[in-house]
Amino acid sequence: MNKEEWEKQNKERYSNPFRDIDDVMRQKETEMINSFIRYKTDKKILEVGCGDGYMLSILSMNHDRNKYWGIDYTEKMIEQATNRMKMNETDCHLFCDDVRTVDFPACFFDIIYSQRCLINLFNWEEQKKALDRIHTLLDFGGYYLLIEAFTDGLENNNKARTESGLPSLKPSIYNTYFDKEKFFKYIQDKFIVYEVPTIQHNFLSTHYFISRVLHALVTKGKQVTNTEFVKFYSTLPPTGNYSPVQVYLLKKVYGEDIDE
Ligand SMILES: C[S@@+](CC[C@H](N)C(=O)[O-])C[C@H]1O[C@@H](n2cnc3c(N)ncnc32)[C@H](O)[C@@H]1O
Repeated sequence: MNKEEWEKQNKERYSNPFRDIDDVMRQKETEMINSFIRYKTDKKILEVGCGDGYMLSILSMNHDRNKYWGIDYTEKMIEQATNRMKMNETDCHLFCDDVRTVDFPACFFDIIYSQRCLINLFNWEEQKKALDRIHTLLDFGGYYLLIEAFTDGLENNNKARTESGLPSLKPSIYNTYFDKEKFFKYIQDKFIVYEVPTIQHNFLSTHYFISRVLHALVTKGKQVTNTEFVKFYSTLPPTGNYSPVQVYLLKKVYGEDIDE
């Protein structure tokens, strides 16, 4: 599949509002972002790849002393996000745009976050463009909270599956997971990894182990999201490194202090 075909399919895929959503994952991601923003005030906050505006609407309802922006690649998503904001009577600036090229003044935002958006990009080269853009748009001392997928978590999960006689899981053809070594090497002159106790990188590890290994083993069936079995274990604390989807908080400390 070439890049144009992939981008066409990606657009079609995210135009479908009825895609499967893993409720536990959604809930844990929402808590993670919500608790990070909770005590922030008067901040300019951007979600890249905001989809139908689910997270932005929660933030703008709960923490309305900040200002919010959202961009997404697909018009359909921005249309849905706009309707959601209208329905909830919340305020948010929404645009159809591309995270690799989105045009705001340098250092405009205090906080940028992404929820499984950069993994949609075609390859590492495109992901680097997105990371550069996010870095430019963030103010010095600003934060990039990323919830994206990494290969190491998937590899560990697949080791556990193989041991249990289950076939390996592969990322969707629409996704490019980050290689951790390459990722951290690339960002090291842009950001520091900001460690706080509430940002547990492996926050989805237990959930992924239960839902993708234990549940699959017990039922001997295909992986199924949103079962009572999986929900039952969802309050356990995170342990191990069995989830590709991980969270990191990056703080912009390096870069040229010039306007574009
Ligand atoms: C997995 S969805 C997540 C949506 C939303 N963050 C959520 O959690 O519901 C990824 C989103 O990223 C968007 N996306 C993909 N490539 C993008 C790009 N180059 N620039 C901006 N958004 C993009 C997709 O259209 C999609 O809505």
